[in-house]
Amino acid sequence: MSGRRAAPPDPRDVAATYDAGADGYDARHAADPRRAHRAATLDRLQLAAIGGAQEVLELGCGTGRLLAQVTAPRRVGVDVSAGMLHHAAARGLAVVRADAHALPFADRRFDAVLAGKGVFRYLDPGRAFDECARVLRPGGRLVVHLYGGRTWTIARRAPASRRARVDLFEPADVDEIVAPAAAAGLGAVAIHRLRSIRVRPYLLEIPAWIDRAVPAQLWSHLVVVLQRTSAAAR
Ligand SMILES: C[S@@+](CC[C@H](N)C(=O)[O-])C[C@H]1O[C@@H](n2cnc3c(N)ncnc32)[C@H](O)[C@@H]1O
Repeated sequence: MSGRRAAPPDPRDVAATYDAGADGYDARHAADPRRAHRAATLDRLQLAAIGGAQEVLELGCGTGRLLAQVTAPRRVGVDVSAGMLHHAAARGLAVVRADAHALPFADRRFDAVLAGKGVFRYLDPGRAFDECARVLRPGGRLVVHLYGGRTWTIARRAPASRRARVDLFEPADVDEIVAPAAAAGLGAVAIHRLRSIRVRPYLLEIPAWIDRAVPAQLWSHLVVVLQRTSAAAR
């Protein structure tokens, strides 16, 4: 784990924060076209990674924005925020109020788990990966989205709305996910690095040749696809 990562917050504090902002959460996100474009791009990647799954769990499902797009015959979301879950339930989604560190589901129940919109920043990776590995069947997939660790503002004198920003990941950010996941019996099968610049196009997946050729790491979102090995490691 890199030294930058602080201890995870108390889930009760996280719940209180999201409860306070639950009403109007979706409308606020949809109102900003760049944010909406970013979410749509990331959603597409995550949904493609779980294609064919029959039973899907989403950690931190919030208002159910992403879970509602899952086409699997059985899908369920968990979240610590009752306020957010109220909106997900209103969409007709099956939801359970629970902490991602202690999932109320049987071993090997799911063939895919989604952890979108950076929910892992609220989690203890070791404990959360153990739980994901436990509820995933062998061969099942966990898809984790992370936000960038740093931001560089390129045009400092431009008005804030027109500044180009590049959020940078350091290699340690990838290790923060891949190493504890491997310890829990979840191996990385794909790592998508996406560049975010605050001018259109807002989010691009970096072609592999640029990724190899450019020494500076110009990605600001990571989508890591993990697969449970036949036996969870812990
Ligand atoms: C940024 S929102 C994402 C909502 C949804 N995944 C989406 O894509 O719109 C993060 C959600 O994670 C939930 N969350 C944070 N920590 C959690 C935990 N320990 N267990 C379960 N849910 C948690 C929050 O309550 C919040 O609803």
